Amino acid sequence: MHEIAEEHAPGQAHVVYIDNDPICRAHSEILLGTTADPARHGAICADYRDAEQLWEQVLDTGLIGPSKPLALLTVSLLHFIDDPAPALAFYQSQVPAGSLLAFNHVTFDRPDTPDSAGQIADNYTQRTINQVHSRTTPQIRALAGDWEIVEPGLVPIQDWRPQEQDPDTSNMHATILGAVGP
Ligand SMILES: C[S@@+](CC[C@H](N)C(=O)[O-])C[C@H]1O[C@@H](n2cnc3c(N)ncnc32)[C@H](O)[C@@H]1O
Repeated sequence: MHEIAEEHAPGQAHVVYIDNDPICRAHSEILLGTTADPARHGAICADYRDAEQLWEQVLDTGLIGPSKPLALLTVSLLHFIDDPAPALAFYQSQVPAGSLLAFNHVTFDRPDTPDSAGQIADNYTQRTINQVHSRTTPQIRALAGDWEIVEPGLVPIQDWRPQEQDPDTSNMHATILGAVGP
């Protein structure tokens, strides 16, 4: 993420990564050690569900200013959380006006869901500590609570404002929905 941000706004973007897996944190530190600016980029090991504590830790890094709008990127995370809405509402109550939420979520509820979807979810449950919670489109929209959703709404991620140079995704299954909201 910090490398993409750097391409678009060299020397400007501040990024704090969050994961509750110490191995992810260790890998982040190695990656950040070679590619990051420690004055602007960091990683913390924290649980998304411990919202108040996590937010305190984020602010304690000094990397994110409490009054500047920010982008809260909950990427490929919410479907691993049993009840993600309360924490999301807390984060919304903390971020300054003008901030954005971007999120995605698996759903196995659409007509073009591939047969392998259940097996993939089972693999996660059996081989990792992350259990997959598939939700329906309305359930996923409801998670966002008061966050507004900008056009084109909550859609398969490959249909979210595709760029001309993007690969052809017409044969892709729509198992991951995504949205952005202010
Ligand atoms: C599919 S990975 C996505 C990682 C990263 N967000 C990305 O997009 O590359 C899901 C990550 O969520 C983390 N995770 C699962 N439950 C979590 C929780 N309660 N709090 C924080 N991180 C969690 C896992 O450790 C895993 O690294």
